[in-house]
Amino acid sequence: MLINLAILISGRGSNMFAILESLDKGKIHNVKDVVVVSNNMDAQGLVIAKNRFNIKTEVVSRRNPTRQEMDESILEILHKYDITPQNGLICLAGFMKVLGPKIISSYQNRIMNIHPSLLPSFKGLNAQRQAIMAGVKISGCTVHFVTNELDGGPIILQNCVPVYDKDDEKSLSERILVKEHEIYPEAINLFTNNKLVLENNRVVQK
Ligand code: GRF
Repeated sequence: MLINLAILISGRGSNMFAILESLDKGKIHNVKDVVVVSNNMDAQGLVIAKNRFNIKTEVVSRRNPTRQEMDESILEILHKYDITPQNGLICLAGFMKVLGPKIISSYQNRIMNIHPSLLPSFKGLNAQRQAIMAGVKISGCTVHFVTNELDGGPIILQNCVPVYDKDDEKSLSERILVKEHEIYPEAINLFTNNKLVLENNRVVQK
């Protein structure tokens, strides 16, 4: 089945860029339509999606919506673009809002997120700073399915980077970001090729 993809962003959109570029290069298969959605009308990624990739974009309508209003607005957009619980995949790519339970339960195991740490370490905001503060010597990034537990859903792919003594949050973030841009398109392609199976809350590859 061909998949319709929604990419949700809030800002820069470099992961969105990596996904759209991989689609353009034929590195992600079985995707029919794509829409980029933002909660922030000034997100840089919206301009890149439109101008560079000619992808349709949508902005969540209200200013400062409640979580439920945000959910309703996203569900309307998904409906408009025929992104359903049967054929849809929703990719959170630097989306700085927490989705509500309605959308998460409707699209169970069809919502992915990328997080800049080796989960389950360093959940939540400023994961790279948390890694520096903890003094870990290896960090990385994780693509996981989204559940109601923040950054707690089943892990799809991870990759790691060294953490050097001289690193600060910025240098570590940059090193991790390179790996994010590799594993996110790869995880999406596994999904769209129907290669991901959940067994006892763990993702295994067919
Ligand atoms: C990335 O580091 C991602 O892991 C985190 O937010 C950042 C988004 O960056 N969730 P970008 O908008 O994709 O450039």
